[in-house]
Amino acid sequence: MAKTSLDAFKEVHTESKIDTNRKVRVGIIGCGWIAGSHMDAYLNQPDVELVAGADLIPGKAKAFFEKYGLTDVKTDYASHKEMLDDESLQLDAVSICTYNRQHAEPAIYALKKGVNVMLEKPFTVTTEEAIEVMRAEKESGKVLSIGFQPRLDANMQMIKKIVDSGELGKIYYIQTGGGRRRGIPTPFGTTFIEDETAGLGALGDIGCYSLDMVLNAIGYPKPLTVSGYKSAFFGVDPNYVGYVNCGHPEYAEKFAVDDFAAAFVRLEGDIILDFRIAWAMNMDTPGDTIILGTKGGLRIPSTECWNGSVGGPMKIYHEVCGQQTVTEIPIINMGGPGLFERKIRTFLDAVKNGTPAPVPSSQIIYNQAIIDGIAKSAALGREIEIEIPEI
Ligand SMILES: NC(=O)c1ccc[n+]([C@@H]2O[C@H](COP(=O)([O-])OP(=O)(O)OC[C@H]3O[C@@H](n4cnc5c(N)ncnc54)[C@H](O)[C@@H]3O)[C@@H](O)[C@H]2O)c1
Repeated sequence: MAKTSLDAFKEVHTESKIDTNRKVRVGIIGCGWIAGSHMDAYLNQPDVELVAGADLIPGKAKAFFEKYGLTDVKTDYASHKEMLDDESLQLDAVSICTYNRQHAEPAIYALKKGVNVMLEKPFTVTTEEAIEVMRAEKESGKVLSIGFQPRLDANMQMIKKIVDSGELGKIYYIQTGGGRRRGIPTPFGTTFIEDETAGLGALGDIGCYSLDMVLNAIGYPKPLTVSGYKSAFFGVDPNYVGYVNCGHPEYAEKFAVDDFAAAFVRLEGDIILDFRIAWAMNMDTPGDTIILGTKGGLRIPSTECWNGSVGGPMKIYHEVCGQQTVTEIPIINMGGPGLFERKIRTFLDAVKNGTPAPVPSSQIIYNQAIIDGIAKSAALGREIEIEIPEI
């Protein structure tokens, strides 16, 4: 598989191109929390018709669409399969907003049906699942884009511009990650903390964003080895403040994922990635993101990068005419459409024009391989080599 070129692992797709004189017919699979952000974004697109929705919980899709005044949308499907089997819908695209363990199966099914896919992050739970999704993508020639909207933020894009400019020289070390002092996500129940729905904890939920922030900036080099650690000291405690505050101490018994993870990853090109992520920890932040190069270093103040923001002005540490200098990069206030709207719009443009996915699987497979590698290395208690099969 080619290293970084968009969609290089598959034929340039022409099949995705659809008649631009009609509206793009869109369905939503999984009508929970994040589906609302997809819905808001689609409703702002004049060239989209929302035609269907499915959720495993009876009545949930119907109620979801009705909340937006969309009473004509077909929602009487017991699963993604029933919806995708309904030929009368003539679906062009779906947003897959299901919990992590239900990313791969609906994505593969949709692609096999010839439907373009906007898939929420993380890509999948395991690398093996992601490979299967990519095989379906390759066979279908359709667009598959993964839901990493923060990379559409101008400040995030500035990180990549700085690296690409050569100002930092050859990159050899990156420290990244982030976290919350207390922030296990259980606002709408336990789908984020149960193994059978989430499969991954902080690592897959917010860790994938920290990884995308830096890997996208440096051109997504292939991960080679990983030594990972994960733990769950807070989520399993019935006295955890989040459970106490929402009146659900029993969530502790359901918690079966990580609430902290750390790793040391070797990347192609002699680059070291030092990573840590937390849903809960006895600290405010596990540190800034730093990118060290032979000519300069970049400091990105500790950030909730999953919200698409840097934590303050970034700083470049470099030499100017022999003088050690620090250059501050002012925060860019982007204005215009929000990140979710940009994420949906760029996906729709790729679908309509038959152009590569804005956030391609050919990059995110490396993000996934690191996450999965951390989980597997942590379980084994030793460093492992990352193997990515041919697509
Ligand atoms: N991009 C972002 O900023 C962002 C933010 C939050 C969550 N997410 C991601 O979105 C995904 C969903 O998160 P959420 O908070 O909306 O979860 P949620 O539990 O609120 O909603 C998921 C819904 O999917 C339904 N579902 C699961 N499998 C299904 C299937 N096969 N067919 C039809 N319906 C199915 C469930 O019944 C549930 O209603 C997660 O993977 C999460 O990581 C992304």
